[in-house]
Amino acid sequence: MTDLPKTFRVKSFGCQMNVYDGERMGELLAANGMIAAEGDDADLVVLNTCHIREKAADRAYSDVGRLVRKDGTRPMVALAGCVAQAEGAEAQKRSKSIDLVVGPQAYHRLPEMVAQAAAGQRPVDTDMPAIAKFGALPPRRRSGPSAFLTVQEGCDKFCTYCVVPYTRGAEISRPFGDIVVEAQALVEGGAREITLLGQNVNAYADAINGDGLDLLIRTLAQIDRLERIRYTTSHPTDMTDALIAAHGDVEKLMPYLHLPVQSGSDRILKAMNRSHTAASYLATIAKVRAARPDIAISGDFIVGFPGETEKDFEDTLAIVDAVGYASAYSFKYSPRPGTPAASMEGAVEAHVMDERLQRLQRRLAEHSLTFNRATIGRDLTILIDRKGRLPGQMIGKTQWLQSVFVDSDARIGDMIDVTTTHALPNSLGGVLRRPDTLVAA
Ligand code: 5AD
Ligand code: SF4
Repeated sequence: MTDLPKTFRVKSFGCQMNVYDGERMGELLAANGMIAAEGDDADLVVLNTCHIREKAADRAYSDVGRLVRKDGTRPMVALAGCVAQAEGAEAQKRSKSIDLVVGPQAYHRLPEMVAQAAAGQRPVDTDMPAIAKFGALPPRRRSGPSAFLTVQEGCDKFCTYCVVPYTRGAEISRPFGDIVVEAQALVEGGAREITLLGQNVNAYADAINGDGLDLLIRTLAQIDRLERIRYTTSHPTDMTDALIAAHGDVEKLMPYLHLPVQSGSDRILKAMNRSHTAASYLATIAKVRAARPDIAISGDFIVGFPGETEKDFEDTLAIVDAVGYASAYSFKYSPRPGTPAASMEGAVEAHVMDERLQRLQRRLAEHSLTFNRATIGRDLTILIDRKGRLPGQMIGKTQWLQSVFVDSDARIGDMIDVTTTHALPNSLGGVLRRPDTLVAA
């Protein structure tokens, strides 16, 4: 038996869906009378974990270990997120310091489980009811300028390397009306940009009438003070013509698309069960660019999938060149227990994987720099989202999601006009744009 925790801290790892879940868990705990604490001395620490790659899970366990204080005491520890889902009660066998285990579809029960843990139980809930949690969470109130909003969860694609179908369950979409209400509340609370989230967000289909992401975006675009809409992550085979058309004519939909390809080799794409080829992916990109010529494309890549040859890898470099990504994430293949790829033959040697990842990342950085350089000298509007390290420096995002560093007295949440002056692979420098000098007649 311990006292009920008075203060809490939520630490999120992994993807943006986890960031969203972390915020909602925080709101829920606060609504139950607990106070958010900044440092490591909170009474309750929620580790909202990621299971996508091996190291991420190991990191979660070592983070649990690190919560033990010098005097041997520790906070109440809740293991949440995808490691919690995958490990379930096993997690508490692996670490005695984990008081409760709550999966991504069960965290609306967190306050109740915290009370059970305080009473000396070790509760575990990794049930996956069809998105019951959203109805059980408190409404959104305050928001930063850029907010996440989960509209869809889970995945039915079963890429052979991926744990998501097992940790997040089957694809399920939230009701259209609930999303509109949440978006309105976020805007009331200060959001000027909303990023719609889903593991397979472009497969969004309202449970009642099947309305898709395109219609959702068009509806949200009518919210007055909402200036920018984004969505992530998409699967290439779910890029419908209707969604592509929205990129052409919805002004608030930002010209940015994260569309992972994973590999440029059809042989590897087949082994990954990706249901697209390099050519069909490029055809989709061409359609998107026809609708919105200035769109920035971003992607995800895996190197060293079982059986990947040098030729397969070169096909990946070729697709990188063909698309000219504005930004990208790239990973070494990591076998995940229970996934089909984990038992495939043809493991790629570690040093080969390292070398391919370096080559790929060099090539991707070249393309990012090219993209960023092409925006030098442009007059752009940025949404200020944080302070820079230097005094007077603020950082904001362009429509293409580049970070621009600028000296300005603007506040977080302001949208300001800048002229970009220089480019690095991951950011831009800019100066405030002055109103045009009047030329005397
Ligand atoms: N190994 C390496 N990378 C992976 N990803 C997903 N599963 C694995 C894995 N087993 C990458 C994919 C995906 C991104 C979120 O993480 O590129 O798009
Ligand atoms: Fe990690 Fe994927 Fe789960 Fe996100 S959905 S937390 S990336 S395993």
